Amino acid sequence: MPAEPSSANTGTFTSGAGSRAPVGIFDSGLGGLSVLRSVRAQLPDEAILYAADSLYAPYGERDDDFIADRTLAIGEWLVKQGAKALVVACNTATAQSIAMVREKLPIPLVGVEPGVKPAALQSRTRVAGVLATQVTLRSARFQALLERYAADCRFLCQPGHGLVQAVERCDIGSTELRELLRGYLQPMLDAGADTLVLGCTHYPFLDAAIRDIVGDRLMLIDTSVAIARQLERVLDQHGLRAAPQSAAAVLPRFFSTGDGTHQQQLAATLLHIDATVEQVSIPSRRTAAPDSQAA
Ligand code: DGL
Repeated sequence: MPAEPSSANTGTFTSGAGSRAPVGIFDSGLGGLSVLRSVRAQLPDEAILYAADSLYAPYGERDDDFIADRTLAIGEWLVKQGAKALVVACNTATAQSIAMVREKLPIPLVGVEPGVKPAALQSRTRVAGVLATQVTLRSARFQALLERYAADCRFLCQPGHGLVQAVERCDIGSTELRELLRGYLQPMLDAGADTLVLGCTHYPFLDAAIRDIVGDRLMLIDTSVAIARQLERVLDQHGLRAAPQSAAAVLPRFFSTGDGTHQQQLAATLLHIDATVEQVSIPSRRTAAPDSQAA
C-alpha cells in the first residue's frame, strides 16, 4: 500500500480532547502541504495544525539522529497543542524515525513512504523512477519496500538534491529548477521508465515542471490521497473522527520554526488558503546546543 501502514499500536489512546481535537501534520518544511491538501479534501471536517520545521529543512541533508530528534520534538509539541493524531508528512522523517516516535507518543500516527507498490503494479515497461531524498533512499525501510514490492520491476533511484530547497523558497518553475529536474528525469526516460514515484512530499508541487519535461511519458505516483484515506481509517479505528463543523472552524492553523513567509505564500498560491503562519520555537536535544545546526 502506498501510505505507511496505520498505527501499529492499536491500543486505546488517551488524547484528552477526543474527536473535536485537531489532527497534527508535520513536515521538515512545506512539502507536507501537499498532504494537507489531500487531507482537507478527504476529511473536510477535521481541524488541522500544520507544523513546518523550516528552520532545519532540508532533513535530507541531515544525519539520522538529528532527524529522529526533531521528529520526536515536533510530535511532542503537537501533542501538547492538543493533536489527537499525527501525520508525519515527510518520507525522510518516516524512514528514519516513525517506529521510535510511535513508541513514544500517546496518539496514533500515520507515516508516508514512496509509492513503490503502486508503481510496480502499474508500470508496463517494468522500469520505474523514484525521486526521493538521499536519506530516504538509503534507509532500511525503503530498501525493505523495494525487496517486498519491486518484484520484476527495475527501480531507478535518484536523490533529488536541491529540489526541497527550491520548493522551500517557493521556486516551482525557474529555469535552474527545470534544468536540475531534467538532469534527474532524462536518464529515466532514456532507460525506458514509464512511471515516476514522487518519494518526497515536496515534489508534488513540482508536477507542472515535471510534466513540461516528461510530457505524458511518465505516470506520476503521488501517495497523498492514499495517506489521507489511511488517516481516515485510523481516526475511525480509534473513534476520533470529527463531527461536521462550520468551514470557519476548520481552517488549518499554520506553524513554522522559520519565519513562515514562504509557507504563507505557497499555501495562498497553491492551496488557496489565506492564513497567517505563527512562528514557534521548538527546542530539541540536538538543537539546544550552540553548534546544534550543524548536520
Ligand atoms: N518532504 C520531505 C520528505 O518527504 C522532505 C525532506 C527534506 O527536508 O529533505 O522527505
